[in-house]
Order: sequence, then C-alpha cells, then structure tokens
Amino acid sequence: MPKAYVFTRFGGPETEALVDVDRPRPGPGQLLVAVRAAGVNPVDWKQRTGYARAGGGARELPAVFGNEVAGVVAEVGPDVTGFAVGDEVFGNPVAGGYAEYTLLPVTVTAHKPAGLSFTDAAALPVAAATAYDGIVQLALPEGATLLVTGAGGGVGAAILQIARIRGLRAVGVASDAKKDFVESLGAVHVPSGPDLAARARAAAPEGVDGVYDLVGGDVLAEAATLLTDRTKLITAGASAEDVELLGGARVLRARDAAVLDAVADLVVRGDLTPHVTATFPLDRAAEALRTVEEGHARGKTVIVIEGTR
Ligand SMILES: NC(=O)c1ccc[n+]([C@@H]2O[C@H](COP(=O)([O-])OP(=O)(O)OC[C@H]3O[C@@H](n4cnc5c(N)ncnc54)[C@H](OP(=O)(O)O)[C@@H]3O)[C@@H](O)[C@H]2O)c1
Repeated sequence: MPKAYVFTRFGGPETEALVDVDRPRPGPGQLLVAVRAAGVNPVDWKQRTGYARAGGGARELPAVFGNEVAGVVAEVGPDVTGFAVGDEVFGNPVAGGYAEYTLLPVTVTAHKPAGLSFTDAAALPVAAATAYDGIVQLALPEGATLLVTGAGGGVGAAILQIARIRGLRAVGVASDAKKDFVESLGAVHVPSGPDLAARARAAAPEGVDGVYDLVGGDVLAEAATLLTDRTKLITAGASAEDVELLGGARVLRARDAAVLDAVADLVVRGDLTPHVTATFPLDRAAEALRTVEEGHARGKTVIVIEGTR
C-alpha cells in the first residue's frame, strides 16, 4: 500500500505517523498524482494543531500533511480535459501532499515545464504563489519601496525576488543570520527585533510605500507605523482581524492555475529561484516538518519521493 505522513489527532508532533493508506480515487475534476516532491509550509503543522483556514474547516482526521506537490499524473478523473496519464504537474492537493499518491483538483494544477525540477515545482504553489498574489494586490508603482518582514523564509525569499523584477526597491527584515541571504536576493537587509521601525526608516530614508508582513504580532504593528497609506499593508502571517485593526488586509489568494503558470514561468526565465535549502525523504518527514516548525527556516524545505530529480 502507498505510504503517507499523517496526523491522527489534533496536537503536537506526538500525533504524527508514517502509515499505509489506500490509493485515492480521483473524483470529477481531479487527477491522481504519483507525488515526486512535496513542499513543507508552516500551515502544515498549524493544521495539525486544529487550525482552520479562513472559509474552511479544520482537516478531517486522520489527515495527510501538506498543501503543495509536484508529480506525475497516474489516473484522470471524470470531466477532466487538458491532462493525461504521464503528464508532469504541480499544484495544491485536495487533502495532503506528504504521500506517495495524492489528488490534485485541475483548478489549481498546472503542467510542470520541462526545465523545472519536481523539487523546485513543489516549492511554488504555496510560497511563491502567495508572494505573487500579494505583490499583485499591493499594485505598487515601479520604483516604490516595499518592506517585507520574515523576509528570509519561503514566502519572503520569493517576495524579494518578484519585487525586484517588478522594479520595486525591497527592504527585507530578517535575523542577522540571514543578512547575506536577503542581500543576495537584491534587497536591503534590516535586522529583526525591537525598534524595527527606526532601523527601517534609516535603511529607507525615502520612505516605505508598502509592507508585506509574514510575521504578525508586534512586528506587524510596528511595520504598519511606516506607512501613511494603510491600504498598502498586507499580511500572510496574521489574522484578518489583527491586520484590519491596523487598516490593512490579509493577502488575497487567487488559488488558480494561472498563478501557478506565472510563477513557473518566472523560474524558467531565471527571474525566480525557489531556494530549496533542505530536502528529506518521506520517511524523514518529521525532520522536514521540524525544520519549518522551529520558525527560522531559510528558503524552502521539500520532501522528495523516490524517482525525484
Ligand atoms: N495565507 C496564505 O495563503 C499563506 C501562504 C503561505 C504562508 N502563509 C503564512 O506566512 C507566514 C510565513 O510563511 P513562510 O512559509 O515564509 O514561513 P517560513 O519559511 O517558516 O519563514 C518564516 C520566517 O519568519 C522569520 N521570523 C520568525 N519570527 C520572526 C520575528 N519575530 N521577526 C522577524 N522575522 C521572524 C524567520 O526568519 P528569522 O530566522 O530571520 O527570524 C523565517 O525566515 C506563516 O505564518 C505562514 O503560515 C500564509
């Protein structure tokens, strides 16, 4: 039977297990995919704690971890056009991705370009797509300055790169350990920690035109003080209630195949590097998850499954 990494109840890492599962059967509009790589994201461990996405309920138990994959189509469900068995694809699975097989809805599935590895493709549907959606939402003019908090993680590294190709000046707030990484992505580095607004003002004396927050809490509140126009404040790292109190908004996710095509195209053109900095096999999924759950990831962590290149 195929293997999957699951949580059996809501709680901490003690709820996790690598188990045998039935091979899923694709319903209408779905593809069965042999997973070659699965991206690891903070939302994965948050779902294990019982976290429910806005507009959706908590995961049904037992639940397979994961929200982004790349792999090969093994079966095509009813009413599907444009995909065939053997196609190389990537996207946001119906319910979990740390598994040998998963189901992808065609609405959030794209063909993987030949020049993109499975590992890199699996790093795009959550982090890079969130970065892309937020930059579109902010709609800053060329030459504007965008401050990013949590800039050295999976989403932050993608924001800095997409900002640069859109002609924005990026200022990345991250720990000193990530200074070189942030600068290598074309951004000005501002060390994280108390009094961040003063350091940001010094680093961007021309002012900050937009803030893309990935941390929330005090960091979000302090970053907000840099803006005169709070409609240019967005977050992926705090609740809608918290950011709306400050005059800002949650990032609006498109969750469609067009965004997946757009970010893959950026990678193929050499404008976006997914920066996969850690890979683990499925039987070491726990270590992959801990790498992200510790809260100080650099770039992306990906689980690779046999046959991945
Ligand atoms: N709504 C959505 O669709 C969506 C999608 C993707 C992600 N998200 C959310 O966005 C957030 C970021 O995701 P991610 O994948 O980029 O996470 P990640 O890869 O784990 O990176 C998080 C980064 O935040 C930094 N950080 C942690 N605490 C900090 C603090 N107090 N001050 C400043 N920086 C701090 C860490 O770097 P240092 O080591 O430098 O502290 C780390 O690089 C998460 O909350 C995630 O759940 C939401």
